[in-house]
Amino acid sequence: MRRKKKFMRIAIDSPAAAGAGTIAKSISKHYNLLYLDTGKIYRLIAYIKIYQKKKFNKDFLKKKIKTLNLKNLQNSNLLSDEVGTEASLIAKDKNIRKLVHSFQIKCAYNPPKKFNGSCLDGRDITYKIMPDADLKFFVTADLKIRAKRRFQELKKLNKKVSYQTVLKSMRKRDKNDYNRQISPLKKTKDSILINTSNLSKRACFLKIKKIIDNKILS
Ligand code: C5P
Repeated sequence: MRRKKKFMRIAIDSPAAAGAGTIAKSISKHYNLLYLDTGKIYRLIAYIKIYQKKKFNKDFLKKKIKTLNLKNLQNSNLLSDEVGTEASLIAKDKNIRKLVHSFQIKCAYNPPKKFNGSCLDGRDITYKIMPDADLKFFVTADLKIRAKRRFQELKKLNKKVSYQTVLKSMRKRDKNDYNRQISPLKKTKDSILINTSNLSKRACFLKIKKIIDNKILS
């Protein structure tokens, strides 16, 4: 007899470039979950602020989030260091967080029927967006390793930036994300810590898969 598929919600929080996105994507594919990289929504708003200044107002942003779909978030322009840094600044604004909230909740709790659940990664997912997630992870890695990974990613995208600049902006971004008053990045007590510093992508996937399988079977 085939085992009934379990509806599953997975929440992941992590600092930048710790590997959470890679893990979340592979896990979502394996278990057929809707995956949302919530940082991309803040990046989209930051992009509008930098490059479409006139549209950076409450009404436009409200409409944008209301009609947002996952394809809108796949633009490689959103990946630059400049957009990431601006995203961590606008993400401190409680009105912007409120705007983004509804879209995240929709993805987390109401994914299209073809999925067996949802997996979201970000900074406040484990305690604000999906406090009742079936499994919570805090994914991290050493700062220099994260900066190196991000630098290599940006190089592949032909973005002209030095390793030192990436390291500096990542340090700044960590400071912003961990210390802000609203929705700071933190590891909740019920999150499982995954340090990816010395793990390959495959090893990360297998480690998390084992934890999820144990949970599903329990
Ligand atoms: O994950 P990523 O690096 O793309 O996120 C960009 C910025 O968006 C983060 O530095 C953080 O300040 C903000 N963010 C957030 N809450 C989330 C996801 C991202 O504040 N859930």
